Amino acid sequence: MKILLIGSGGREHALGLALHADPACTELHVAPGNPGIAQFAQCHRIDITSNAQIVALAQEIAAELVVIGPEIPLVNGVADDLRRLKIAVFGPSKAAAALEGSKTFAKEVMSDAGVPTAHSFTCTTLAQYEKAFDTFGPPYVVKDDGLAGGKGVVVTHDRQEAINHALTCKRVVIEEYLNGPEISLFGISDGTSILAMQPVQDFKRVGNNDDGPNTGGMGAYSPLSWAPSDIIDDTYTQVLAPIIAEMNARGTPFIGLLYAGLALTDHGTRVIEFNVRFGDPETQVLIPLLKTPLASLLYKAATADLADTVLEWRDESAVAVVLAAEGYPTAPKSGGRISQLPVIKNVQIFHAGTSQNGQGLIATGGRVLTVTGVGSDLTEARDRAYRAISQISLPGSFFRSDIALNASVAEKGN
Ligand code: AMP
Ligand code: GLY
Repeated sequence: MKILLIGSGGREHALGLALHADPACTELHVAPGNPGIAQFAQCHRIDITSNAQIVALAQEIAAELVVIGPEIPLVNGVADDLRRLKIAVFGPSKAAAALEGSKTFAKEVMSDAGVPTAHSFTCTTLAQYEKAFDTFGPPYVVKDDGLAGGKGVVVTHDRQEAINHALTCKRVVIEEYLNGPEISLFGISDGTSILAMQPVQDFKRVGNNDDGPNTGGMGAYSPLSWAPSDIIDDTYTQVLAPIIAEMNARGTPFIGLLYAGLALTDHGTRVIEFNVRFGDPETQVLIPLLKTPLASLLYKAATADLADTVLEWRDESAVAVVLAAEGYPTAPKSGGRISQLPVIKNVQIFHAGTSQNGQGLIATGGRVLTVTGVGSDLTEARDRAYRAISQISLPGSFFRSDIALNASVAEKGN
């Protein structure tokens, strides 16, 4: 099977490696890809915000499966364009991608499906903001209704800051604050069935102890030994299956990866957000742990054939740590030279913001690399990831040193 994978991040590097490793994949093409991906796949420099360019490439290489990594092409409806040409696609239609593209839409679907989430109001005027803030009280949670590249959400005790953020957005969702640990739990769906993956925890703030601004994610780990033992079944029953049924009933089935961002509150699980694609860096811990061959799995999802599939996992742990460029996330510096990457057993280094320049690699983005360690428990996985990342030098770069720290200590205590 010839596969075209769209994207250029650490997530696509991890997905690409697993697609390539599945014997069902005879040729792997990636657009635009990155220098890490170019080591095992053919990369094509196209503009992935252009549906026409993606479709043309899929036709040129006679792709039998297209896997879409990032949300923008999905929200732009590229999956619809490809399906019209009878090309199998792992990724939702434009209508189904609105679960990520519009927070108001996601709330409507959750309400119709009976899925637990924060109470909210959609607002466009100052009077509406004030009313919502009075209803919920602090801390105030204000979300841009549309895609905002990770900058859309402000959580603050400062009412003026909350108002200021709302004023910069066209339409906002203001909601009740959810207290409790956050996890990411992904489901792979063929439109009617959905397979729940194991949960992951992502570290969204830039600094240790969850200090500083939100980022795309500074690290992740799985499994979560501290989470309730029924978390997967519970999320399947309360969240994933009802959403898939609701999207089907609306005539807009969801085919692809449904990313549920969950808060585990004292009152039970609540959905914080949906994304319609694999998370980054969550994918860089899940894929190294997944035993099920990925190309066949995603092809089955793309062709309504998942009903009899069961996911298989390695009985190991994985910890991913992101190496970020100086100034990330506010003003990342690019152009720095990255030292030779170490080759270490049980460690994988995924490229994201890198490019090949002369003999070496240079940094070209905020999140430059993700280093994943795999081990028999979180402590071993962490040690491996941190040993490897400390051998990489890039002037001004930094990483969080507390990824999976509390969880690894808790696990040892059990
Ligand atoms: P999102 O872009 O929706 O993932 O939001 C970014 C981050 O804001 C989340 O990971 C949470 O940490 C935080 N957040 C979003 N909604 C809420 C909420 N209702 N209560 C508490 N924190 C929230
Ligand atoms: N790690 C968060 C995301 O992929 O949106």
